Amino acid sequence: MANTKVAIIGGGQVAETKHLPSYSEIEGVEIVAVLNSNKENARQFALKNNIPGYYGDIHELLKKEQPDLVSVCTPNKYHYEHVTAALKAGCHVLCEKPPSILAEEAKEMMELAERKGVVLSYNFQHRFSLEARRIREEYRQGKLGDVYHINLSALRRSGVPGWGSFIDKDLQGGGPLIDIGIHMLDTAFYILGFPKVKKVTGKMFNKIGPYKSEGSFGQWNPEKYEVEDSFFGFIELTNGGLIQISTSFALNIKETKQLNAEFHGDKAGATLYPLEIYSDHKGELVSLVQEDMVEDHAERRAIHSFVRKCRGSAEEDIASGEEGFKIQTIIESLYKSAELGESIYI
Ligand SMILES: NC(=O)c1ccc[n+]([C@@H]2O[C@H](COP(=O)([O-])OP(=O)(O)OC[C@H]3O[C@@H](n4cnc5c(N)ncnc54)[C@H](O)[C@@H]3O)[C@@H](O)[C@H]2O)c1
Repeated sequence: MANTKVAIIGGGQVAETKHLPSYSEIEGVEIVAVLNSNKENARQFALKNNIPGYYGDIHELLKKEQPDLVSVCTPNKYHYEHVTAALKAGCHVLCEKPPSILAEEAKEMMELAERKGVVLSYNFQHRFSLEARRIREEYRQGKLGDVYHINLSALRRSGVPGWGSFIDKDLQGGGPLIDIGIHMLDTAFYILGFPKVKKVTGKMFNKIGPYKSEGSFGQWNPEKYEVEDSFFGFIELTNGGLIQISTSFALNIKETKQLNAEFHGDKAGATLYPLEIYSDHKGELVSLVQEDMVEDHAERRAIHSFVRKCRGSAEEDIASGEEGFKIQTIIESLYKSAELGESIYI
């Protein structure tokens, strides 16, 4: 069988720590090239990681290398441009989260992939965790009953990223909501089978990011801090349910960080990390499922699944272009609600 040729678009932190190790575990996958807007950076990344090709122009890369699969790992602003170029060249694409900056872009990408008959997927790795899979299974079997309230948190006490472009509004499109909150949002929607959204209401703050310069994720320039540092939102579902999301790079909480999803159903409740499903009997907590899952590298399984899907496996459950569009629509609407100070109907 011919090797599956993969190109990496944007050789930075996530490409090196997540994409390369995951692809390297798969038989018959060959990383053929890397792209960086700065060609010298691409050359150095290629040298360090034993990649034969390096480019500064995506069209040249796609034409010369003709990859089967492309991993888009550039800052959020460039996802649309790079995904679109790769899809037009007939490649299957795995794009880092978030899908894009605008919902309209995610819609175009989804439609283009459908027209080209190729796979478009987003790297929402938390839905691949064993915990998420187990809660989804139990929910589908009715163990939680009617889940009418979901509480999502992606909070850090002092975790403004000191690297990359995470505080640059133009490149990122926003702060913690689009960067870390989006992971829990996708995981919850995945577990619940993507229920329809009725309206969203959001409020954002910027009380710490522009006034401090150092935290547990390194140093940043407060003068260049342009994104929200905290976002709190309500997502009302057409089935009557309510999702609450709290997300922050810097919030005065007790823990260093919180990343979790809690599901409250009329039969039982569930917590994602660590996995637990519980209910009440005469005032006593009854634990129905309690498992300390070992670290299972969900991000690697996400990439393995993507490759199997591209190779023709019909059963692979990936984060699809359509799901990416739905998540992007919620994110965009939450930001719009916070900016306008009013609820947005979807
Ligand atoms: N799934 C996850 O949990 C996860 C974790 C981290 C980052 N990410 C996502 O991955 C993406 C990249 O994040 P990162 O932490 O690797 O950032 P990074 O800054 O380390 O890497 C981005 C790379 O893209 C290059 N680049 C910038 N503009 C470019 C352009 N126009 N053309 C080609 N190359 C360009 C940069 O030089 C850099 O090498 C972001 O979208 C981020 O949200 C996802």
